[in-house]
Formats: sequence, C-alpha cells, structure tokens
Amino acid sequence: MKDVYILGIESSCDETSASIVKNGQEEISTVILSQIDIHTLYGGVVPEIASRNHVKDVTFVIDKCLKDANMTMDQIDAVAVTYGPGLVGSLLVGLEAAKTISYVNNKPLIAVNHMAGHIYANNIERRMKFPLIALVISGGHTDLIYMEDHFKFKVIGSTLDDAVGECYDKVARVIGIGYPGGPLVDKLAHEGENTYNLPVPLNDDSFNFSFSGLKSAVINLYNTSKMKNIELNRANLCTSFQNVVVESLTSKTVKALKKYNVKNLILAGGVAANKGIRERFEEIFKGTDINFSYPNMKYCTDNATMIAAAGYFMYKDGIFSTLDINAKSGEILK
Ligand code: KG4
Ligand code: ZN
Repeated sequence: MKDVYILGIESSCDETSASIVKNGQEEISTVILSQIDIHTLYGGVVPEIASRNHVKDVTFVIDKCLKDANMTMDQIDAVAVTYGPGLVGSLLVGLEAAKTISYVNNKPLIAVNHMAGHIYANNIERRMKFPLIALVISGGHTDLIYMEDHFKFKVIGSTLDDAVGECYDKVARVIGIGYPGGPLVDKLAHEGENTYNLPVPLNDDSFNFSFSGLKSAVINLYNTSKMKNIELNRANLCTSFQNVVVESLTSKTVKALKKYNVKNLILAGGVAANKGIRERFEEIFKGTDINFSYPNMKYCTDNATMIAAAGYFMYKDGIFSTLDINAKSGEILK
C-alpha cells in the first residue's frame, strides 16, 4: 500500500496544534501552541478566551506544520480533526479550519474523537497489541476501556463525578501551588511523605471511579488547618493525595485486566504523564506477563499527532465525514 500522510488538527481545549503523520505512526512535523500562560492568569481555562486564541493561531499552526514538513496539501491524503469531546467554541475553530482545507483541496475529512486520539498516542512509537485495556485519564475523563481490536471501544468503567486531572487541578489551586496542577502536584508528591489519612474512593467491585470525595477531603483538611493556624506540609499533602489516587486507579485497573483476561495495558491522556502512576504500575507488573506501556510525555497532553495517528485507522477503513458534521462537546467514545 502506498504511504498515507494525514494532516491532524487539534483544538479541543487550550492547545492549538497541527501535525503530519505518515502511516499512522511516523511523525513528520508537529506544531503546538499552548495557551497555558494566558489561562494561568485566571487559574483555569476560560472557554471564550481559548476560542479567540484558537482563531488567532489556527492558520499559522497549520501553515507552519506544512512548511516544517516541506510539504504541500497536494501530498496530504486526508485531514483528521478533533470534533469532540471538548469546549464547543474551541472545537469549532479546528473543525471549521479542517472542513475548509478539506473542501478547498478536495481531501477526505476524518472526524476523530479526542479520547480515541489520546489512546492512539500509544501507537506512535510502539504498536498497540490487542486485546487491551486502556486507562484513559485526563482533565475531563477517567475511563477504563476494553479494546478487542483497532477502533473497537467498550467503556467498562468511568468516573461517577470528577475526572482525575480536574481533581489534581482543583487541589493545586486550593493549596496555592499554581496551574495546571497535575505536573506540580506530581513533582511535590515525590518530595513529601505519606502522612495524611485520606479516604480511598469507591473501593467496590465495579470499574467505576469517584474523586470528588477525595478532593473535598483534601480541601477541607487544608482549610480547617488554615483556620486553626496550623501549617500543613504541602509536599506531604501532595504525596498523601497522590497515593490515594494511584491506589484507586491501579486497583481497579488490575481487577479489569483479570476480569477480561487481558495482558496488554496502556495509559492515555494528560494524567498518563504522572510519574507516580507510571511507577506504581511498573512496580505491580514487574516480573509478570502483563505488557504495560504509555506514550512518550510529549504525546500525553493534547497534540495533533495523536489525532492524525488515530485518523489513519479511520482512513484505512474509509470512515470519512461530510462537511455538515458539527462539534460535539460531550461526545462519548463508541
Ligand atoms: O489530556 P489533557 O491534555 O487535556 C484533556 O483532554 O483534558 O489533560 C490535561 C490534564 C490536566 O488536568 C493536567 O493537570 C493533567 O492532565 N496532568 C497531570 C500531569 N500532567 C498533566 N496530572 C497529574 N500528573 C501529571 N504529571
Ligand atoms: Zn486531551
């Protein structure tokens, strides 16, 4: 089969990104413009500001990506774009850009689910082996997904309330360590000790998660101590918090692997960058026959490379979209 070059576009939250990927795995060029510095001023992503910045950046990002690859649209086989889930105003910018490019250049349009993109970040430097379980952990999602083969997603468990990344960001904001909270809490967690007794959430037989109780427990502990003028050790609090998160995620995942008799486990999403989670899984699976892997750090948080990588498998199966496709902020993986 001839080589296939997909142009991916991602704008679901606060990163504007374009990437060209060959045959679903070889990254040719990628451009990512992050708005973190802007949203840091507000302690979180402001949707209206995010959309406006995508509008400002999207053309530049796509042009630079083609230029860096030394390619023209004639050499691109299809345009893959995130259509959901995400912030609707942000999604619309990438989607409209992709539709325009697809129409003007007469290239197929591929609408990629953002979470499928996160999962396919695992196929960029390695090959995903099936059947597998994917633990998808991001700012908006905490899902356990069983995959029998490419693009066969079965969600077997989800968070009943907050997503794990959201919980990290909220805890970081309350205890005053900055935004985005995930990497900062992760770093501090490696400097402290497990000293605070926090509740382990939803310790049941399901594959679901719950993080709002844990989040509230950390916030209450912090606020109560502050009122009593007791100085809490933030590093120890981060370690204690992260230990509970890691325990919850790993115990449910291990149960899912057993129940589905699956030997392949992948991590996906921004929180897959978490060192504590990666280390604990590695410890658990050391010397076992479980094949555990996760994407390179740069493919964990939002990027268009993963969208182009996922889009390749849709291209191969001829799954294309028409120009009337709309952004779907609450889209689920199916
Ligand atoms: O996948 P992503 O870039 O955006 C969404 O699709 O949501 O994930 C962003 C989330 C944020 O909540 C961020 O705090 C979290 O991923 N995150 C981390 C780490 N790096 C990013 N959470 C925990 N530990 C990390 N090292
Ligand atoms: Zn994401």
